[in-house]
Amino acid sequence: MYKIVKRTQLNDSVVRIEVDAPEVAAKAKAGQFVIIRVDELGERVPFTIHDVDRENGTVTIIFQIVGGSTLLLEQVKEGEYILDFVGPLGTATEFEGAKNVCVIGGGVGNAIAYMSAKTLHEEGAKVDVIAGFRSKDIVILEDEYKSICDNLYITTDDGTYGEKGFVTDKLKSLIEAGNNYDLVIAIGPIPMMKFVSKTTEPYNIKTLVSLNPIMIDGTGMCGGCRVTVGGEIKFACVDGPDFDGHQVDYDELMSRNSTYKNTETHDRENCRLYKAAEVGGTK
Ligand code: NAD
Ligand code: FES
Repeated sequence: MYKIVKRTQLNDSVVRIEVDAPEVAAKAKAGQFVIIRVDELGERVPFTIHDVDRENGTVTIIFQIVGGSTLLLEQVKEGEYILDFVGPLGTATEFEGAKNVCVIGGGVGNAIAYMSAKTLHEEGAKVDVIAGFRSKDIVILEDEYKSICDNLYITTDDGTYGEKGFVTDKLKSLIEAGNNYDLVIAIGPIPMMKFVSKTTEPYNIKTLVSLNPIMIDGTGMCGGCRVTVGGEIKFACVDGPDFDGHQVDYDELMSRNSTYKNTETHDRENCRLYKAAEVGGTK
């Protein structure tokens, strides 16, 4: 059993939990993920790691309440326990000695982008962060980012905070202003990672993206997480989740990720947890 030692509500639908898991904390690196099971009846759900505190033996993840499993996880209070917290899984991000990096997070993807930015900053790289959100009310991690990067640029789609526009608009203007990035890391919705990669391609800037296909075992056994990269089939759980953004077949990934959309909609309409949440009964 793994204790939630701290729980913070970051916005209406996004929660940060710090979990007591010394064995995972001892090994976990940026880009790796854990698989969580709340209880014996719970699904196995992968979450890429947000932060690690090796001294205190804790691992932090941030999740958005989007389905039955995250709704169940959202109900576990500070001081209570979850059943499984397996990891670290996947391959750590390879920064390859990059010295001038732009880390881009889109929405909840900022949860993961943060650990890459922090690690690069600790390794002495110059780190610019572009954090994009739909609007001001869902901005997360602003203060946390400020302490671990050289420049933080916040964008909102509707212009209610920071600069109006997509993260790709800001990236293009920074590149055109003469920032010679040797690495761009993009983590967020699939269309964002696709268009960040399209933005950097003409400039030949190495671009890493963190893919989030449907995962089941997380250990390379089931094939559920297969993605096509550079024309080859890869398993995101063991070969990734990071891949060369210029080589990913994003359209295939989007199509595979929508496979269970109807089931999720059915669950949302029928699940007792959703119904309880709608009347404010999940806390
Ligand atoms: P969102 O849709 O609000 O987008 C966040 C930002 O991404 C936008 O503000 C914009 O700046 C940028 N963006 C979105 N579409 C773009 C486009 N077509 N071109 C350029 N930029 C674009 O994000 P959200 O609702 O917080 O994200 C949820 C999605 O992110 C879910 O689908 C989730 O699965 C995915 N996600 C992925 C990862 C990962 O590991 N890659 C991690 C967390 C969440
Ligand atoms: Fe089963 Fe990757 S999740 S092979």
